[in-house]
Amino acid sequence: MTNKLTNQPQFVVEKEPCERSVKQLVSMIRAYSGTYFTDDFADDVQIDASFQRLCYLKIGDEIISCMMFTCLDGRPHITAMVTRRDCQSKGYGKRLMGFFVEYVSRLGFHEIELYAWSEKTKPICASTQAFYQSVGFVVIKEHMGLWAPDMVTLKMRKTWGNIDYNMLAKKYDLTRSANIDILDRFAEVFPFEGKTILDFGCGTGNFAHALNQMTTAKVYGVEPSAAMREKAVAKGVDARAGDHTAIPFEDGFFDFIYMTDVIHHVPDLKAMFSEFRRVLKSGGLVGILTESHDQLATRFWVRYFPATVAVERERYPDIPHIIKAAERTGLRAYKTVATDEARLFAISEDFLRLAENKGYSIFHLIEEDEYQTGLAALREDYVKQAEISSAHGETLLFFER
Ligand SMILES: C[S@@+](CC[C@H](N)C(=O)[O-])C[C@H]1O[C@@H](n2cnc3c(N)ncnc32)[C@H](O)[C@@H]1O
Repeated sequence: MTNKLTNQPQFVVEKEPCERSVKQLVSMIRAYSGTYFTDDFADDVQIDASFQRLCYLKIGDEIISCMMFTCLDGRPHITAMVTRRDCQSKGYGKRLMGFFVEYVSRLGFHEIELYAWSEKTKPICASTQAFYQSVGFVVIKEHMGLWAPDMVTLKMRKTWGNIDYNMLAKKYDLTRSANIDILDRFAEVFPFEGKTILDFGCGTGNFAHALNQMTTAKVYGVEPSAAMREKAVAKGVDARAGDHTAIPFEDGFFDFIYMTDVIHHVPDLKAMFSEFRRVLKSGGLVGILTESHDQLATRFWVRYFPATVAVERERYPDIPHIIKAAERTGLRAYKTVATDEARLFAISEDFLRLAENKGYSIFHLIEEDEYQTGLAALREDYVKQAEISSAHGETLLFFER
């Protein structure tokens, strides 16, 4: 057996699990959980396996790490995962998870959910949670007493990759347009006329198109999503494929690079700023429109969708972090402008339409029931034309090469 385990394990998916595999899964779970599960647990697993899928790592004929999963409601849920007792602490669980993520990514998924449940005080609870956290899951919700008074149920989720803008491209322009006020604020610091400019992460090209219309600047776009880029090109924007790791222009090509609502999608700021530094002329500027962690909590619509704050803070780099990353690549902090300003207003039809169409990527990342509850309250305030007060603004960061 030890000899066998020196071989490379093979990853297998069974869409209709065979009896032998299910038996191995049940015996692995039994060995892992000791006397914790009752006798009819094996029957439950057998029944679940008849409509779920199995994937596992095997060496020879032996399964060493296994999971049962379903994609029944449109995203993968792991319903059981276990590694053979004598193979634990050898990294097989992590390898299985890696293969599984690759497998579901190829199916087009970028998110996995699972429920882990146990008596709160049992060590199995802490070790299960620690394992899933080590492979990138975060606890979304904790329920006490869902099945029994001292049982805890953890809802966990792992998300990777970015929001799929190829999917969102179709509806994007229904809810978004160029914000002329922001372009004016950029222009106050960096006059655009006659300059060569890059709109990084230009999306459907709204800002670049507006600038090309309104000024004598030559504005190019860089955008990784083919579907978003096509829309930009259709507006006459010279938008090219690229991202934070590769901007397809020669060194020192641009006078000014700006990005609007993009930085929270970029997984490696150091790589991005290095590329900016490369394609900027000496003395050129970078302008970034984003929101600070404080501003993420003061958006007027947080009152309808409070769950967005924690998720947004996870994915948005805060201002000091951005400055540090830029400075590390040799860019100099030039100016920071916060646009917070108290105002009174009523919900506009445009905003209601944006929320209904999930026009902000964050609406795809919170629980559907939280989104629906917020949307109902938002609709109510729209109908009443309730008076809303907000001092929310955004942050503009400028760096110089
Ligand atoms: C919220 S949209 C903003 C689009 C446009 N800047 C605007 O304000 O209308 C975010 C855009 O960032 C792009 N993006 C995502 N990851 C990126 C990366 N690593 N480098 C450059 N752009 C990226 C997405 O494809 C998407 O078009």
